[in-house]
Amino acid sequence: MLYTLPPLGYEFGALEPYIDAQTMEIHHDRHHQAYIDNLNAALANHLGLQNKPLSEILSSLELVPEDIRLVVRNHGGGTYNHNLFWTMLSPQGGGEPRGPIGQAIKQRFGSFAEFQHQFNLSAKKVFGSGWVWLALDQFSNLQIVVTANQDNPLMIGLRPVLGLDVWEHAYYLQYQNRRPDYINAWWHVINWEQVAENYERFKV
Ligand SMILES: [Fe+2]
Repeated sequence: MLYTLPPLGYEFGALEPYIDAQTMEIHHDRHHQAYIDNLNAALANHLGLQNKPLSEILSSLELVPEDIRLVVRNHGGGTYNHNLFWTMLSPQGGGEPRGPIGQAIKQRFGSFAEFQHQFNLSAKKVFGSGWVWLALDQFSNLQIVVTANQDNPLMIGLRPVLGLDVWEHAYYLQYQNRRPDYINAWWHVINWEQVAENYERFKV
């Protein structure tokens, strides 16, 4: 096995009432596992890629052999995005970010409320399946970006700091077609400590 499913770090039901246990279990144990299995199958005969960090592979997909490029993009993206997603959630999450990331958000967007407003607008507008991100550009400026399917900021030269999965598999059991309710709930379980770490790690 090349990639394995990382443990959640909290119980499936730990994010209730904001995200229900059944959604978390299916999302983590089945959807995330499937991305990992498909990525591993694609890389089975590619030893060079097996030794490369996934973030590097996704940052330069043009170097991936064409016959597996789309699978690596979709399932490598799915693996990377979900690895990140679980760490950006916490039963003790929510509130407003403090420290450098909190200041950077205020500087970029004017206020935390305005950042939330813009992020929510982007998340509600995603057509079909995708992700909304707070990401750093090459000048370490924060940007809200939307990516389709399992694409992510690495594929467009950015670095992810915070990401929200807006695939229906992330919320449909609990929220059905009410994506805005899921988005509003998600703010209550954001692990800002992890987001702050991402910001420090990716800042240049
Ligand atoms: Fe997902």
